[in-house]
Amino acid sequence: TRFRNVTGVQTCALPILTPRARVVSGMRPTGRLHLGHLVGALGNWVPLQDQYDCFYFVADWHALTSEYSNTDPITGYALDNVADWLAAGVDPERSTIFVQSLVPEHAELFLLLSMVVPIPWLERVPTYKEQQEQLSEKDLSTLGFLGYPLLQTADVAMYDARFVPVGDDQVPHLELSREVVRRFNQFYGDVLVEPQPLLTPVSRLPGLDNRKMSKSYGNTIDLSDDADAVTKKVRQMYTDPKRIRADIPGTVEGNPVFMYHDAFNTDTAEVDDLKARYREGKVGDVEVKTKLAKAMNAMLEPMRERRREVAANPGRVREIVVEGSRKARTIAHATMERVRDAVKLRY
Ligand code: TRP
Repeated sequence: TRFRNVTGVQTCALPILTPRARVVSGMRPTGRLHLGHLVGALGNWVPLQDQYDCFYFVADWHALTSEYSNTDPITGYALDNVADWLAAGVDPERSTIFVQSLVPEHAELFLLLSMVVPIPWLERVPTYKEQQEQLSEKDLSTLGFLGYPLLQTADVAMYDARFVPVGDDQVPHLELSREVVRRFNQFYGDVLVEPQPLLTPVSRLPGLDNRKMSKSYGNTIDLSDDADAVTKKVRQMYTDPKRIRADIPGTVEGNPVFMYHDAFNTDTAEVDDLKARYREGKVGDVEVKTKLAKAMNAMLEPMRERRREVAANPGRVREIVVEGSRKARTIAHATMERVRDAVKLRY
């Protein structure tokens, strides 16, 4: 890209000369990906590739913090998730796609960070107690689970990440990361970069039953669902419960069917018309849902197509993560050299 400035002299556009800021984000491989992941993370990861040097990784050690008693499905989910990333448009030519446990330097940095972080800082992170209560069937009184946000700090600090695209639920983790990095730098000099959250612009999407979208509630639409499955699930979606007949005026606000229309239906005139008629009691649920299913399938179809291409070459996903992890490890190695120097563990 070249542009002419006012003097008519051709110059190189600035972005070519400035190294792109680094972005790091991860996902835990605890199941197949659903629309919540698309709206909350993946949909944001894809456009960031145009502006940033992106590192996207499978946080398999983070999955272990809660899934340590059944580790069988983790690697399968990991590869399946990466296939969805590729299908959604994460591009291995432009971004580094890797697996956390294939870069064991993350564990070393985590260990060194653990020397300076006071335990109450970790106990204060709101997700710590929340998750322990919500997942009460699991014993989460482990050191690994307490250290979750500290491992996350190592993940991003390893690559000098300036920005971390996350949903609002992850902001306290990033806040901890910033505090830990500052404390580490106070002891050892300016070694690590303070990461900043890059908030996902789209709001959270409820599940089919209007609770939080989650695999454990069985209320998800998965990225790998075919058109029939999507249509069936949309037909069963929770909607305004007061509206037992089509001629009763309905509520659009907070109605998951319309939240989905807003998120996925690109025909805004159609959405506006449906909302107006819904409020007046002049449209049946069947029409609203049929149009939603159609819009969602139109949005998902290109992803399904790419997923089929990816699936046709099963070794490819593994190849991509192995190659990406090798690249990530080169950087991680250099960071750890710098960190060991700073901590004065040099022999
Ligand atoms: N905690 C994140 C989540 O559950 C996953 C994660 C692990 C992560 N390490 C990260 C996200 C580093 C961003 C950066 O969504």
